[in-house]
Amino acid sequence: MTPVELVRDPSLRSGQAPVVRRARPADVAGISALVAEWAAEALLLPRSAAEVARAVEDYVVAVDGRGTVLACAALREYSPSLAELTSVAVSRAAHGRGLGRLVVHAVEALAAVRGHDTVFAHTLQPEFFAALGYEATDRAAYPEKRARPHTLCVRRALAGEPAALAAAA
Ligand SMILES: CC(C)(COP(=O)(O)OP(=O)(O)OC[C@H]1O[C@@H](n2cnc3c(N)ncnc32)[C@H](O)[C@@H]1OP(=O)(O)O)[C@@H](O)C(=O)NCCC(=O)NCCS
Repeated sequence: MTPVELVRDPSLRSGQAPVVRRARPADVAGISALVAEWAAEALLLPRSAAEVARAVEDYVVAVDGRGTVLACAALREYSPSLAELTSVAVSRAAHGRGLGRLVVHAVEALAAVRGHDTVFAHTLQPEFFAALGYEATDRAAYPEKRARPHTLCVRRALAGEPAALAAAA
């Protein structure tokens, strides 16, 4: 896979602006470590490096100028009509700078390019997803990998995704 830079947002200023792009094998350890930070707080399911490596083409990352993974998110495809946004994580030090929004949008673009018209997520942060245009939906309609009884299910239709993002994905 040729890595594709999806977004370079000049408004994210902290030295060099983070870049949002498809994940590469070199990002695997950083993704797994970032997800583990939040899995320790039961906000995400953990992903081993081996699990991430097997699905690396389904991940997007935001990296700083040194290649450190600041944020990640992934697409999990169950069927041509069923796609989950998963492993949305932003490094604590990088919260509130729009990186969560950017990695979610990048996964949505990836989903659109792969032919999906909606994505769903199981989350303990429904307000974050509401800010990104997601609506609550019936969790019984969607698969869950492991029982997490306190999560809410949210979904978003992908019509109208930014053409530039979709083209780059
Ligand atoms: C949730 C998380 C991904 C947000 O990342 P972030 O980079 O800080 O979010 P952004 O800066 O992109 O914020 C985007 C929007 O969501 C809102 N938002 C972010 N976190 C929020 C929260 N916890 N509650 C309510 N709104 C939130 C922001 O105010 C912003 O809204 P605006 O554009 O209308 O101002 C991050 O806090 C995180 O990694 N949390 C731990 C893991 C987790 O819970 N992941 C999601 C569950 S699947």
